[in-house]
Amino acid sequence: MINKEEIINKLKKVMDPELGMSIIDANMVRNISIDENNNIKIVLALTSPSCPLLDKIKEDILSNLKEIQGVNNIEIITEVMPEEEAKKLLSKIRIRKLPKMNIKRIIAILSGKGGVGKSSITSLIAVTLANMGYKVGILDADITGSSISKIFGVKVTPFIVEGKIIPPKSKKGIKIISMNLILLDEESPVIWRGPLISSAIRQFYTDVDWGELDYLLIDLPPGTSDAQLTVMQILPLDGVIIVTSPQELVGTIVAKAMNMSISLGIPILGVIENMSYITCPKCGEKISIFGESKGKIIAEKINTKFLGSIPIDPKLTIACDKGIIEDYENKEIFSILKEIIETISL
Ligand SMILES: Nc1ncnc2c1ncn2[C@@H]1O[C@H](COP(=O)(O)OP(=O)(O)OP(=O)(O)O)[C@@H](O)[C@H]1O
Ligand SMILES: [Mg+2]
Ligand SMILES: [Zn+2]
Repeated sequence: MINKEEIINKLKKVMDPELGMSIIDANMVRNISIDENNNIKIVLALTSPSCPLLDKIKEDILSNLKEIQGVNNIEIITEVMPEEEAKKLLSKIRIRKLPKMNIKRIIAILSGKGGVGKSSITSLIAVTLANMGYKVGILDADITGSSISKIFGVKVTPFIVEGKIIPPKSKKGIKIISMNLILLDEESPVIWRGPLISSAIRQFYTDVDWGELDYLLIDLPPGTSDAQLTVMQILPLDGVIIVTSPQELVGTIVAKAMNMSISLGIPILGVIENMSYITCPKCGEKISIFGESKGKIIAEKINTKFLGSIPIDPKLTIACDKGIIEDYENKEIFSILKEIIETISL
């Protein structure tokens, strides 16, 4: 018969991504029973009845327990923790935030949908800040789809000095750390599971020698998954900027952003709408091809500032694609960004 110790050891490998600790350490496993036919029954206590990561946790439990020889059926029963206990547990993670080091401001860039231009906006903000004389770094937290190093045309593999990763610098001196700088084969798709993504992001923060910075910008993958949770929970963020596009559904992004900021106590600095309009190169008229801006409505709904609209510029697409964002020129866009930076400067 399978022994309980063996099961506990396997379950120690199952992380609650939200808590950043194993379900055993978090005391979420309330009961383990094994019958004579090696059927396992686990009772799992959740911190909230609407745990968005439950499917993932269940999946991890199953895949870990299936490694045990002779296992038959695995049943997972869930219950909700008493409120007091959940609160205590959640407050623990707040205390466990990583230190700020020599970085003045840490800001994450978030979006609901993919492809709205987060990485481009992150890069443009970094360039604007560097032009203003600030010391800037970008941590590319999009582990499986990193694009920052490509946008800056940085191809140097970071080297290690005394156990610290030295981030390569762009032409303007922006320090960059991105997964595709570390993986040798840029083309091979990265298939990583949640806990690995989380620990990669943690390492990008703690094991990289960022030195003294005025701003560290964090480029996130789209949506709300392990990467976002990790960044919001363990990094000492000063705030989050939300990037939207005019086609965005107002409802989904609002709900996600609200949940994250409220449950994790991180201020939302404001909303930037990207690809809002096209400026006529002949007369300067702003043509809104997607209709009325929704950015303002979104900002209002989540009680935050509308920071501004960025137009579509085909030259920006090319600059990002060619890795020459630092040579990109657009007075209109850079003056909008400068204004945004002044509005949110913490
Ligand atoms: N204002 C703009 N004008 C023209 N092209 C833009 C603009 N903003 C972004 N793009 C282009 O749109 C594409 C998607 O942008 P980007 O990669 O920055 O989006 P993302 O939100 O980071 O995507 P993902 O969700 O995949 O991380 C890129 O080719 C980029 O160059
Ligand atoms: Mg991106
Ligand atoms: Zn015109």
